[in-house]
Amino acid sequence: MPVLRSIRERFERERPLTGIRVAACLHVTAETANLVRTLTSGGCAAALCAANPLSTQDDVAAALAADGHVEVRARRGEDLDTYAAHVAALADERPHVTLDDGADLLSVLHARGGEALDGLRGGTEETTTGLLRLRRLEAEGRLACPVLAVNEARAERAFNDRHGTGQSALDGILRATNLLLAGQTLVVLGYGQTGRGIAQRARGAGAAVIVCEVDALAALEARMDGYEVMPATAAAERGDLFVTVTGSRSVLRREHFERMKDGAVLANAGHFDVEIDLDDLRALASSVREVRPLVDRYDLGDRALYLLARGRVVNLAAAEGHPAAVMDVSFALQALCVEELVLRGQALEPGVRAVPRAIDDEVARLRLDALGVSIDSVTEAQRRYLDSWT
Ligand SMILES: NC(=O)c1ccc[n+]([C@@H]2O[C@H](COP(=O)([O-])OP(=O)(O)OC[C@H]3O[C@@H](n4cnc5c(N)ncnc54)[C@H](O)[C@@H]3O)[C@@H](O)[C@H]2O)c1
Repeated sequence: MPVLRSIRERFERERPLTGIRVAACLHVTAETANLVRTLTSGGCAAALCAANPLSTQDDVAAALAADGHVEVRARRGEDLDTYAAHVAALADERPHVTLDDGADLLSVLHARGGEALDGLRGGTEETTTGLLRLRRLEAEGRLACPVLAVNEARAERAFNDRHGTGQSALDGILRATNLLLAGQTLVVLGYGQTGRGIAQRARGAGAAVIVCEVDALAALEARMDGYEVMPATAAAERGDLFVTVTGSRSVLRREHFERMKDGAVLANAGHFDVEIDLDDLRALASSVREVRPLVDRYDLGDRALYLLARGRVVNLAAAEGHPAAVMDVSFALQALCVEELVLRGQALEPGVRAVPRAIDDEVARLRLDALGVSIDSVTEAQRRYLDSWT
């Protein structure tokens, strides 16, 4: 993670986070450990809990805890009560800056309100679903701090959603099932930033891709990109493999399960485990059993459907999340946004805010440097031309 390393070296010299308490509710992976070590190099006290009970890498949690600089509260497979207790414990520490992947930590702080929010300079949010929740809080006039929308930074969208989830969602599906993608019909439900990456890579691996959408423009784009587009009830009859990635709930439900072919595989790459309606699936099934790790077979009379990772986010639950090269960009943005909130957060009004363009540009520049790629710059004459209305 060369970009994060260069930021860490600067933080070690400048110590911009001295005296700050940072609390992070993120996936506890090796890449996150690098981020947390970068932050503590900047002089802050840091605490970390998991944003998803199934994505925690216990060896990483143990290694970070052994560092002695970071309070770690995460265990792979922890039950929901333990998970909630861990988030609550981080909130108890009254952080100055939070890092969220799904907004659980900021939600707990806001649910407590009052003193719990004192001293909070701001937070960062890594994913779409977290931003949805925080914007709802803002719309109710209750968001008490600035939140930098890392998920919407230009560098993040290109790297994390398209390249990162595109590859790692398929990686999770393949690790769990060992299926051959070539020749399969893969249905992507949701053609947003993330769904596009999955569709593109599945097609590259030889699958026929069908897209289901509720947004007319996204559906039109999918059609113009060369995919078949149809309602989910029609796609249900055609697909061998289904991937939900909408940020919504019950996207696949009874009416779809009833139409699916024998052997169809269901996976979710959206943030919460609500996109595939498990109540409906259980209600239809005469029996359920795990046939491989993270593959549950649901017997529906004459047919069987296979659910991956219990409907949880498949690239984290069944694979290792995004490759380090992707998280290098995401977490470089995170580190610089934490610094921004520490240095300038108190001047910002509460609300969900864009990552400053300078941070986006800096991260892209550092990543290009790491790749040994140099680019042109705008000439003075071009600058004058672009700046002039005439
Ligand atoms: N697994 C990962 O690593 C990863 C990475 C990034 C985002 N996410 C999650 O993936 C989800 C989607 O994120 P995104 O950034 O692509 O969001 P997005 O808003 O860009 O795209 C979501 C798309 O789903 C469509 N949609 C909504 N309801 C639908 C339905 N019922 N049927 C079909 N399509 C529907 C929307 O119209 C939209 O085009 C979120 O939950 C996000 O948090 C996961």
